[in-house]
Amino acid sequence: MVDHARRATRPGFLDKPTLRGERVLLRPVTVDDVPALLPMFRDAEASRLTGSHGDGEPDEARIRTWYETRGAQDDRLDLAVVELTTGNVVGEAVLNAWDPGNESCGFRICLVPGTYGHGLGTEATRLIVGHGFEQLGLHRVSLEVYAFNPRARRVYEKAGFVAEGVLRDALLWEGERVDAVVMSILAPEWFRHRGRPEAADHGPA
Ligand SMILES: CC(C)(COP(=O)(O)OP(=O)(O)OC[C@H]1O[C@@H](n2cnc3c(N)ncnc32)[C@H](O)[C@@H]1OP(=O)(O)O)[C@@H](O)C(=O)NCCC(=O)NCCS
Repeated sequence: MVDHARRATRPGFLDKPTLRGERVLLRPVTVDDVPALLPMFRDAEASRLTGSHGDGEPDEARIRTWYETRGAQDDRLDLAVVELTTGNVVGEAVLNAWDPGNESCGFRICLVPGTYGHGLGTEATRLIVGHGFEQLGLHRVSLEVYAFNPRARRVYEKAGFVAEGVLRDALLWEGERVDAVVMSILAPEWFRHRGRPEAADHGPA
């Protein structure tokens, strides 16, 4: 049943929060973050992993316009991922494709090359997805991950996403067709494990 009173007082996508973890802080991304984020757009491997087709050098002016306008979006949440030990912006985490009628949205994350494998992506995922369920009142958050990206898939599974289907040959990358796996997490699952399904599964009976 929909709790209308709670819904009325709840923050929406236009409210841009700062979310603090142990290793990362997530805060609204701005145009000032573009220099730190540019390596994400320039890295061939990051482009492959995110399936970003482009023709050569990324258009910096377009990228700046994109980040100048993130704060005013009322249907998505774009947060910069800041590493707490260094203060460096190391990527972005995004809730997008909000579907209010179905209380659902999408999720994407990308870190800057050189910062992978230190637990930052896992923590950022838990923080923003937790915000989606606990503050925005979402019921479902979903994503797509390519079959050639087991690291990202592992991160999503660690945070509680469940594989629910395969989009066959969804990506054509350098002559090869690659499947995309659809993953989602639902509110009752989130509130059972709060982004730590493995701990919940091994807890006391
Ligand atoms: C995907 C991404 C956000 C993950 O963030 P991260 O900080 O690198 O990931 P973490 O360090 O938190 O966790 C990585 C996990 O993957 C595991 N892993 C690494 N390589 C792996 C592989 N080839 N196969 C399976 N698991 C792998 C690690 O062991 C770790 O799991 P563990 O904690 O159980 O040991 C980041 O790597 C990234 O931005 N990559 C480039 C862009 C991208 O792929 N975006 C996602 C598109 S869907």
